Amino acid sequence: MDTLCLPVNEESLKMAATLLKEGQVVAFPTETVYGLGAHALNAEAVNKIFAAKDRPGDNPLIVHVAQKEQLQGICRVTETAERLMDAFWPGPLTMLLMKDRQVPDETTAGLPSVGVRCPNHPMALALLRACGLPIAAPSANRSGRPSPTSAAHVYEDMQGRIPLILDGGACQVGVESTVVDLTGEIPCVLRPGAVTAEMIASVAGDCTVADSVMRPLKEGEAAPSPGMKHRHYAPKAKMTVYVGADEQVIPVLCQKYDETENAWILGHEKCLPAFGDRNCMSLGDTPKETAQLLFQRLREMDEKGAKLILAQGWEESGVALAVMNRMARAAAFDIVRL
Ligand code: TXA
Ligand code: MG
Repeated sequence: MDTLCLPVNEESLKMAATLLKEGQVVAFPTETVYGLGAHALNAEAVNKIFAAKDRPGDNPLIVHVAQKEQLQGICRVTETAERLMDAFWPGPLTMLLMKDRQVPDETTAGLPSVGVRCPNHPMALALLRACGLPIAAPSANRSGRPSPTSAAHVYEDMQGRIPLILDGGACQVGVESTVVDLTGEIPCVLRPGAVTAEMIASVAGDCTVADSVMRPLKEGEAAPSPGMKHRHYAPKAKMTVYVGADEQVIPVLCQKYDETENAWILGHEKCLPAFGDRNCMSLGDTPKETAQLLFQRLREMDEKGAKLILAQGWEESGVALAVMNRMARAAAFDIVRL
């Protein structure tokens, strides 16, 4: 199959909408990462997403809608959910709600709940409106690869596997949406993102964070979200994340670098001069900037053939929890706190 990669305009949107209505798969930009979309209520179309990604069939998909009114027949919208939608949609917040009859088991991997989200991206919203369908879309990477934050990343992973990629430039947030479970009494964040637990609590009254967000699952422990048990964001290199004050982290990074062949440093922008002529790349100077850059850097590390990645992390507050959740998984939880 030839894979077209087109800038977003009226014509390409029309083509994408037609493909989606025909039950084909199309990649499109959102504010978080690129998504791999198909008609959420068409089991055959949804199966094509799993095939294109090599995604395990037990990992459910998020259903994207243009507005909350489109959720009729898809899920039971609770009062708390409606308040959260009014506060954070369109935006990087996925809510798990009890699914309704129209959603096939393929979309939710047989679960009784369904994840729903309205993306805050003009092109994603234009596509959702143009096709008029709820669109199931996981991140548009091959399973186990970092999520794509540009059309070029999608092309790397999906070339020959899907007919069309809509190129909307770089994603603004850079890490995937917050996943909050609203099926219990108290909202619980299963995957941290740009909408933080504090922000959710300010609207819903309360919100917890699953403690598996920052640690590996124990043997035999059930994953609160199927995605958490699968290998994620894994660069080919071994990776270690260092958290602490710059003056403490910099000398350790330099020492570890000098002990290893083909090591790379991913450091905060303002620290780069301190690494001298060692191989290094910037992760920006704020957690928000790191969120935008992280997945691209992990792909670059594979291209450079890095054997060891020494990365500078952040204390896990606010949006930094989302960044550290991804860094921890990329590093197989090898985090050193100085
Ligand atoms: O930002 C995003 O959320 C992007 C863009 C494209 O919208 N999508 C995305 O989808 O990251 P995906 O499939 O890569 O990640 C969805 C996560 C997975 O870990 C999945 O297991 C979890 O959400 N999930 C989805 N539906 C669920 C459900 N009903 N119960 C528990 N976990 C669910
Ligand atoms: Mg994903």
